Amino acid sequence: MISCNALISFPLFLLLLLLHGAECEDPYRFFTWKVTYGDIYPLGIKQQGILINGQFPGPQIDAVTNDNLVINVFNYLREPFLISWNGLQHRRNSWQDGVFGTNCPILPGRNFTYNLQVKDQIGSYFYFPSLGMQKAAGAFGGIRISSRPKIPIPFPTPAGDFTVLAGDWFKTDFHKLRRLLEIGHNLPFPDGLLINGHGWNGYTFTVDQGKTYRFRISNVGLATSINFRIQGHKMKLVEVEGSHTLQNIYSSLDIHLGQSYSVLVTADQPPQDYYVVVSTRFTRRILTTTAVLHYSNSFKAVSGPVPSGPTLDIVSSLSQARSIRWNLTASGPRPNPQGSYHYGMITPSRTIMLANSAPFINGKQRYAVNSVSYLTPDTPLKLADYFNIAGVFYVGSIPSYPTGGNAYFQTSVMGANFREFVEIVFQNWEDSVQSWHIDGYSFFVVGFGSGQWTAASRDSYNLRDTVARCTTQVYPRSWTAIYMALDNVGMWNIRSEDWGRQYLGQQLYLRVFTSSNSWRDENPVPRNALLCGRARGRRTRPF
Ligand SMILES: *[C@@H]1O[C@H](CO)[C@@H](O)[C@H](O)[C@H]1NC(C)=O
Ligand SMILES: *[C@@H]1O[C@H](CO)[C@@H](O)[C@H](O)[C@H]1NC(C)=O
Repeated sequence: MISCNALISFPLFLLLLLLHGAECEDPYRFFTWKVTYGDIYPLGIKQQGILINGQFPGPQIDAVTNDNLVINVFNYLREPFLISWNGLQHRRNSWQDGVFGTNCPILPGRNFTYNLQVKDQIGSYFYFPSLGMQKAAGAFGGIRISSRPKIPIPFPTPAGDFTVLAGDWFKTDFHKLRRLLEIGHNLPFPDGLLINGHGWNGYTFTVDQGKTYRFRISNVGLATSINFRIQGHKMKLVEVEGSHTLQNIYSSLDIHLGQSYSVLVTADQPPQDYYVVVSTRFTRRILTTTAVLHYSNSFKAVSGPVPSGPTLDIVSSLSQARSIRWNLTASGPRPNPQGSYHYGMITPSRTIMLANSAPFINGKQRYAVNSVSYLTPDTPLKLADYFNIAGVFYVGSIPSYPTGGNAYFQTSVMGANFREFVEIVFQNWEDSVQSWHIDGYSFFVVGFGSGQWTAASRDSYNLRDTVARCTTQVYPRSWTAIYMALDNVGMWNIRSEDWGRQYLGQQLYLRVFTSSNSWRDENPVPRNALLCGRARGRRTRPF
């Protein structure tokens, strides 16, 4: 059967036909993105933003499980640029991840075509610019991956599907924020919050009374956890970063940096306008912003006090986190999401513990993992690895357990074997909430607990129905434990989603390795790979 997307070109179609016989590849979707500066006024004052095709936030990506996305990014900025894809797994293909550990920057006036496949994925994610502090200027946008038509979703098709990109915002120019970090400060407290690029009541979601809508909310901010709620309405949680959840009802939802949630909201209230509210969580000063939920038959503008949400309280956040569980009978990208194995039945072969800290090194504020503050090399790690360029990094340059020693700079790469099943404990001794993200993977968040993690902490794990996701929070003076099947060969970024911390060293790379050298396990270097640093002038192997 030929089921090619009509978008693919005829010669390519013929080639695919030759290669694959009558059975065609998964559909292709093509995008051309022009990245430019542009004036934006999100908090009422003019700022230099980064726009994609003239838009802030950037355009939405809509895809279906297994689609191939061909995204040609043209950099019209006066500085290098890269886009990364929060939550896309890039199976066998860390070449497309778009962080400096895997890709050379797209230089001003140049372009790079990402070839991604959203293989075996569903759910809500976002993309963002990964270099410098460009994320403080825009160039982020929503990604939604729908199930294939024949795979049932565990709720009726909503009447509408809204993307909510929310997060803190700074009035300070992003170059200035970067300089602040570089001279040894952390970021200041944010100036406000935005919803889809707008401040107070600047954005409107229009609904018809009686209908149910999906809201996909991502925290695209730089520094603070947020709480999301809708005046007078309940939210039914249905999906977390690709996992269909038990459909619990919440009146508000904590969303930590880099996280994404889908909720269903029924417009079942009297026809008027309601506040959609986002406020900062765990901050002494509380920032709040609102958008409008507008009933199409409404005759009354938003009114009354903006509903307040939880602020400093951690216990309620923790119990909400524990209540978020997987619906074991719901389909995922495939009808049987767990396949023939269940994460709780496997004993990890190895425990890794990652402890964050905020040391001063040479009198400057830095951030570290297991005492190592990540030092950006001159050549992407993935390219150095591929071309066997010595001296860029070495595997094992970060301990797998905190040492308690003095902090130091290092291009930290942890080694791991393909098909290992690992337990990773994020240990947080600081007073702030941490948010950790792992590229290329979806992991099972098996436990949250306070104090020091010990082997006995395992007794409290949820080995039955926790969600698989790509970003998890770690509460102050607490730990979070995850299980992860290392089924994706590549060089993968593990990072703080707190952007100042990430920029000042709270990140590392996990090199998931196999000696097989087979294209079944890892894609070859792309023909269009950009080469820089000590990889400049090397030849990529032809396909
Ligand atoms: C830049 O864009 C052109 C098409 O305009 C494309 O052929 C080329 O492969 C792109 N360059 C890279 C490095 O992807
Ligand atoms: C789980 O998913 C199934 C299958 O789609 C659905 O019928 C059921 O209502 C869901 N259960 C809960 C508690 O969300």
